[in-house]
Amino acid sequence: MAYSEATVLAGGLAHIPVVIGFFGLIQKFILNKTNPKTAEKSIDSSVNIKTNESAQSTPTKTIKKPDHSKVPVNTYRPKNPFLGTVKENYSLLKKGAIGRVNHITFDLSQGDPLLKYVEGQSIGIIPAGEDSKGKPHKIRLYSIASTRHGDDFKGNTVSLCVRQLQYEKDGETIDGVCSTYLCDIAPGEKVKITGPVGKEMLLPEDEDANIIMLATGTGIAPMRAYLRRMFDPNEIEKNNWNFKGKAWLFMGAPKTANLLYDEDFESYKAKFPKNLKYTKAISREQKNPKGGRMYIQDRVLEHADELFSLIENPKTHIYLCGLKGMEPGIDEAMNKAASSKGLDWSKLRPQLKKEGRWHVETY
Ligand code: FAD
Ligand code: A2P
Repeated sequence: MAYSEATVLAGGLAHIPVVIGFFGLIQKFILNKTNPKTAEKSIDSSVNIKTNESAQSTPTKTIKKPDHSKVPVNTYRPKNPFLGTVKENYSLLKKGAIGRVNHITFDLSQGDPLLKYVEGQSIGIIPAGEDSKGKPHKIRLYSIASTRHGDDFKGNTVSLCVRQLQYEKDGETIDGVCSTYLCDIAPGEKVKITGPVGKEMLLPEDEDANIIMLATGTGIAPMRAYLRRMFDPNEIEKNNWNFKGKAWLFMGAPKTANLLYDEDFESYKAKFPKNLKYTKAISREQKNPKGGRMYIQDRVLEHADELFSLIENPKTHIYLCGLKGMEPGIDEAMNKAASSKGLDWSKLRPQLKKEGRWHVETY
């Protein structure tokens, strides 16, 4: 090769990274413009966003969104699910409760790779059998109710909290396909599991964060995982994470007998009275000030002052999980509660969302 040709070739090769980098930048720009998920991820894993401390307000603070890039997702997909084995399946309800809600644990130890997850994620379940068209059933998502260490702290189980769906149609009782399959399943049986999925409900890393939790029914599942991570002695020993903030659980259930994991939460409260508040709304036993059913949004209003003092702290996160129908009621209550403190919820909520402090998973 002549000298001049070699020089041109070397020069050309030397430009390749520059050209790739240039196209990479263009691609990144386009993706961030067009794909909100990608855009969100790139915010998630890198930059500090400038934001106001409260909606009204004054000092400008730099809040770093947490880096969730290492959180596992989709280790097992619907086309290639993991076959977990049911370890235990028991009722969480007391005598006189309405309906059926079970705690179900699956053994994951045969997984290769092992299905790993963190608190706040969900898994998918594919019920056995076929639908009315002879096709395999579709996947259903369930919030994980255990910590990453599992209920036995060995790191190879996952637990769910499942309510059996039942409704009346044309005088007939219809049972939900997957929830009935799960509530009926016996230890030793194999279940198709996918995931984990979801980064919306993850806990912050800060040991001194404040965590406000608003749950109805099985919406308690991720909160049970958070509270175990914070307050269960075995879990604390395992997780090397020493929660020092304030946790406040608002739990909605129709009857006292329907409260889920209540003894555990009461025992955490007794042991850590400065760190945990536990407020219940028992809709069919207690009345709100208007004489209607007591819902968690009525409790939010009762505690508006204290709640919003907490929310003004940039280390406070709010988690909402359970019935989709509770969202308008919660929004209305937050609106009223905010205005009683001179704050504008319509501005504050998007602000909290932007800061990664407002977490919602309803279904
Ligand atoms: P299906 O057989 O799928 O029946 C549901 C269908 O029945 C509905 O789509 C609707 O068409 C119909 N239907 C329902 N109610 C009525 C009614 N009153 N009248 C007429 N038709 C009706 N569930 C839990 O129990 N625990 C959890 O932790 C949990 N976590 C979830 C997390 C996420 C992110 C999501 C998206 C959902 C979660 N769910 C959870 C709900 C769960 O995924 C299922 O939707 C639920 O178990 C019902 O599934 P199924 O197969 O039993 O019901
Ligand atoms: P209710 O059913 O008495 O109206 P579960 O899943 O075990 O049934 O619990 C759900 C809880 O959430 C119940 O206490 C239920 O009350 C309550 N609930 C129902 N609708 C709403 C709503 N729109 N906002 C808040 N809570 C609600």
